[in-house]
Amino acid sequence: MADVLAGLSAERVETFALRLDRWWPDVRGGLAAVHDPGTAAALEQRLLRLAATAYRDRVVETPDLARLDVARTLEPDWFQSPRMLGYAAYADRFAGDLAGVRERIPYLRELGVTYLHLMPLLRPREGPNDGGYAVADYRSVRPDLGTMDDLRDLAAALREAGISLVLDLVLNHVAREHPWAAAARAGDERYRGYFLTFEDRALPDAYEATLPEVFPGTAPGSFTFEPELGRWVWTTFNTYQWDVDWSNPEVLAEYAELVLLLAGAGVEVLRLDAIAFLWKRMGTTCQNQPEVHAITQALRALVRVACPATIFKAEAIVGPADLLHYLGRGAHHGKVSDLAYHNSLMVQVWSMLAEGQVRLAARALGQLPPAPASAAWVTYLRCHDDIGWAVDDADAAAVGLDGHAHRAFLTDWYTGAFPTSTARGLVFQENAATGDRRVSGTAAALAGLDAALEAGDSREVDAAVARLLLAHAVVLGWGGVPVLWSGDELGQGDDADWWREPGHDDNRWVHRPRLRWDLAAQRHDPTSVPGRLFAGVAHLAAVRAATAHLHASVPAEVLGPSDPGVLPVLRRHPVGPFLGLYNVTREWRPWPAHRLEELGVGAAVDALTGRVPERGGDGDLWLPPHGAVWLVGEA
Ligand code: GLC
Repeated sequence: MADVLAGLSAERVETFALRLDRWWPDVRGGLAAVHDPGTAAALEQRLLRLAATAYRDRVVETPDLARLDVARTLEPDWFQSPRMLGYAAYADRFAGDLAGVRERIPYLRELGVTYLHLMPLLRPREGPNDGGYAVADYRSVRPDLGTMDDLRDLAAALREAGISLVLDLVLNHVAREHPWAAAARAGDERYRGYFLTFEDRALPDAYEATLPEVFPGTAPGSFTFEPELGRWVWTTFNTYQWDVDWSNPEVLAEYAELVLLLAGAGVEVLRLDAIAFLWKRMGTTCQNQPEVHAITQALRALVRVACPATIFKAEAIVGPADLLHYLGRGAHHGKVSDLAYHNSLMVQVWSMLAEGQVRLAARALGQLPPAPASAAWVTYLRCHDDIGWAVDDADAAAVGLDGHAHRAFLTDWYTGAFPTSTARGLVFQENAATGDRRVSGTAAALAGLDAALEAGDSREVDAAVARLLLAHAVVLGWGGVPVLWSGDELGQGDDADWWREPGHDDNRWVHRPRLRWDLAAQRHDPTSVPGRLFAGVAHLAAVRAATAHLHASVPAEVLGPSDPGVLPVLRRHPVGPFLGLYNVTREWRPWPAHRLEELGVGAAVDALTGRVPERGGDGDLWLPPHGAVWLVGEA
């Protein structure tokens, strides 16, 4: 290692040594949890060299990133700040290519964006590629979008504008066309060992007895027969996405290199795609296995040593009990991912809006343990994926609902099958065996905006806009990193022609339209729908940025409701209490005066209006239909 660092100043070498002292035990511990001592020790030496090389390159070749490392070490809570606002988009569908994204930075700044998740843009396989999640080459950019140098330039331009670049690291699988898979098919034993293959159906059948289906409609089962190999390959997702074998130390070393490569290109947040699936164990769902967290710990600590400006986001769409582990529980506290998706909040927001009731949300969100103080939730209303109704049967039963029936109701509601619903979503991947039906659709389509605009019904348009702004108020008022899905800031609706484009082989594309810049052009017109939504969201973001109470280190507590249609969310920050009240109904609803006093917000200003809200004649605070207040008190 000394040879790698030779040529750096004594101070730089010392910094590296201090980081090793602080974090290397976590690399070692993570490896020891998944490998025998000999394998772990050899792997550790390889990772150490990789870390030293990446550190040296950073200092020598990208001094601005090395400076960011120092800045972030001084402000380790940067991603928990209320200034954070995320935006997620496909680069091509948002702005054509990477150069186009760069030109749109002012648009993002206008909205208040500080974090940009560009959907998979590393070179995917030709043909269907699951929206880029079937990567054929991690070391190059999709040619129609640009080059690795363009990516570096874009990352630098974003950084300059105060926006952190977020990219996916797809680490559960590679495309069937990835060189590793091609070599395996060609008979190379080394690469055969990167995958999980089986000579007959005996083991696949045994695993499948306890494996849930991810894409039951379009890619049933978790194994695919590969004629060139004459074997069955583990393919959790589509048949062309080959799961890699993380129990092979070579695989871990490969991904360690890729993590450092992307961080070196200026990626500040790595979204660890489908992380829950990395480790397989017979007799289980093969999700959330303890080894996943040990592996994450080793990679996370490696990054802390080599390039600490970069953090991890876990993409684990799993039940509450498993979810918290991705942010670090028990021995992994503070050592794994920094961010994780708050899937339950997303589901509960849509559930509240459909039902006009908060009881289930209050119960489910109230039961969820807080995120660790050093981590943060990614909160969101919509993303590029479908919505699976992750409603726990026990939570449903506790408020007198049947879980299965409620999930069925939500799909009926959001696909417009329910008599009084005007939502326009589509059923995604119906599972005949379990009756499970997920939903695709943009926020605008789900909230009834598409239907209201088409009908030219201005009252319903107003109601849908109010519903969407209320949903955004919950998401931005939670604490953590709120991430907007591209187009939602304008109320852009579904893409009815989604299926016409090659490769769009499942209906999630209905909610991945090209951004309509003609709608964006209306954003300064306060009478237009795009104008109302854009201004509304930008206002929420600006208020949020100035509200210290929303720092993610403080948990959001869902209180017991006083009115069945008002969700109360309290944050007890040392600067003072924050009470968010959200009316999920189309009627005026009260919040009792005595509870305002009890919570210390009796005289508090509503940060969203800058005024102390007026009370009704009864002394209660009355919220208008779909109204939201953010009451900020002083300590
Ligand atoms: C994640 C992505 C999803 C993709 C899957 C497989 O769940 O969000 O879009 O299909 O991983 O990579």
